[in-house]
Amino acid sequence: MKNRLVFPILCVLLLSLLGGWPRGFQAPTANSPSAASGWGGGRNVTVLLWHWPFNRPVSLRGDVCWDLYGIPRCRLVDQRSLFPSADVVVFHNRELVQRRQKLPLELPRPQGQRWAWMSLEAPDHNGNLRQYANVFNMTITYRRDADVTVPYGEVQPRQAERHQVQDPLNKSVLVCWVVSNYREHQKRSEVYRELKAAVPVQIYGRWTKKPLTSRALLPTISRCHFYLSFENSLSKDYITEKLWRNAYQGGAVPVVLGPPPDDYKTVAPPHSFIHVDEFASVKDLAEYLRQLAGDERRYSEYLAWRREWRVKLFADWRERLCQICSRFDSLPQQKVYADLEAWVNAVTSSLPN
Ligand SMILES: *[C@@H]1O[C@H](CO)[C@@H](O)[C@H](O)[C@H]1NC(C)=O
Ligand SMILES: *[C@@H]1O[C@H](CO)[C@@H](O)[C@H](O)[C@H]1NC(C)=O
Ligand SMILES: *[C@@H]1O[C@H](CO)[C@@H](O)[C@H](O)[C@H]1NC(C)=O
Repeated sequence: MKNRLVFPILCVLLLSLLGGWPRGFQAPTANSPSAASGWGGGRNVTVLLWHWPFNRPVSLRGDVCWDLYGIPRCRLVDQRSLFPSADVVVFHNRELVQRRQKLPLELPRPQGQRWAWMSLEAPDHNGNLRQYANVFNMTITYRRDADVTVPYGEVQPRQAERHQVQDPLNKSVLVCWVVSNYREHQKRSEVYRELKAAVPVQIYGRWTKKPLTSRALLPTISRCHFYLSFENSLSKDYITEKLWRNAYQGGAVPVVLGPPPDDYKTVAPPHSFIHVDEFASVKDLAEYLRQLAGDERRYSEYLAWRREWRVKLFADWRERLCQICSRFDSLPQQKVYADLEAWVNAVTSSLPN
C-alpha cells in the first residue's frame, strides 16, 4: 500500500522539479547548461571545429563555453593540429558541399573520436550527401532527433519580470509579411496569393524593394495583427527565425506554414500560433483572421503566453558547439550514419516518443 503511494508522489516531485511544462509542449531542457553538471569524469571534452561556417571565424579565446554559456569542461578549438586529441570533430556541411573544404579522410581517426555533421539548412539545401555514407558519428542540426539539437530559437520560462510584459495591441495592419526571395512556385507564395485575394496583406522586404533595416523590423511587425511565418522549405522541424524572431519577438500572432502542426506544438507555447494546415481552405483562414482581429479579447488570448515565456534566439555558432559538451555523456558509445542522405531526408521522425 505504502509503495503504491510512493511512486506517484515521486513522479509529481520529479515533474515539479522539471518545471511542470504544459503537456504536448516540452520546453527545452536537454541542451541546457545544467544538463552538463551531471557528469562525473572531470575531464575536458575537446571539440574541434574543422572549418568555420561561412568562413567567418569568431574568437575562441579563454574558456569560451564556461565564460559565455556556463558550460563546464568544454574545450572548443579550431586548430587542426589538435585533431589527435579531439573527442569530436565538427564539419559544417555547406563548405563541404561547395568543395571549399574537405574531410581529412587520410588522417587516422583516433579511437573513440566522433565526427559530427553540422547543418542548419533544410534538406533541399544540403546538396548531395550520398558521398558521406559511413563517415559521421553524430548530427548537429535543428532536428529534434539529431544527436545535438540546435534550434533557431526556443522559449524559456520567465521569472521575475512577468508582470512587466505588455500586450502589443497598437495594431494598424492586419497581415504582414517580410520576404526577400519570392519564388512564384513555392507553396508559401501560393498561399500568399490566395490570402491576399481575401484580406489585405502588407509586404516588406527586398522582393518589393521595401527592405527593412534590422532596427525597423520588429517595430514594423509589432503594428501587425498577424505575421506570415512562412518557411521556404516545408521540412520536419524546420522552424526558423521567421517564427521566433519576426513574429514572436515582433509581437504579432504568427500564421505558420512549414512542418505539420505537431512539430510546432512540441516547441511553441500552446495557443501562440495559427497553422495554415488547420483550415480547410485559405479563404477560411482569411475569414478567421478577420474575425479574430475584430475581437480584442480573443485576439489577446494568442498573446497570453508572453507573460510566462520569453523567446531565446540562437545565433552564435559557439553556443551551438558548446552544446555538444552538454550532450556528450548521453551520446551513444558507438554510432555511424550509414546513410546520411536518407536520415536528412526522412519525413517522419525517429524520436523515441
Ligand atoms: C580544461 O580546460 C580548461 C579551459 O581550456 C583549462 O583551464 C583546464 O585546465 C582544463 N582541465 C583539464 C583537467 O584538462
Ligand atoms: C500606435 O502606432 C502608431 C503608428 O502606427 C503611432 O504613431 C502611435 O504613437 C502608437 N501609439 C502608441 C500608444 O504607442
Ligand atoms: C565513427 O565512425 C567511424 C566510421 O564509420 C567508425 O569506424 C567509428 O567506429 C565510429 N566511432 C564511434 C565512436 O561511433
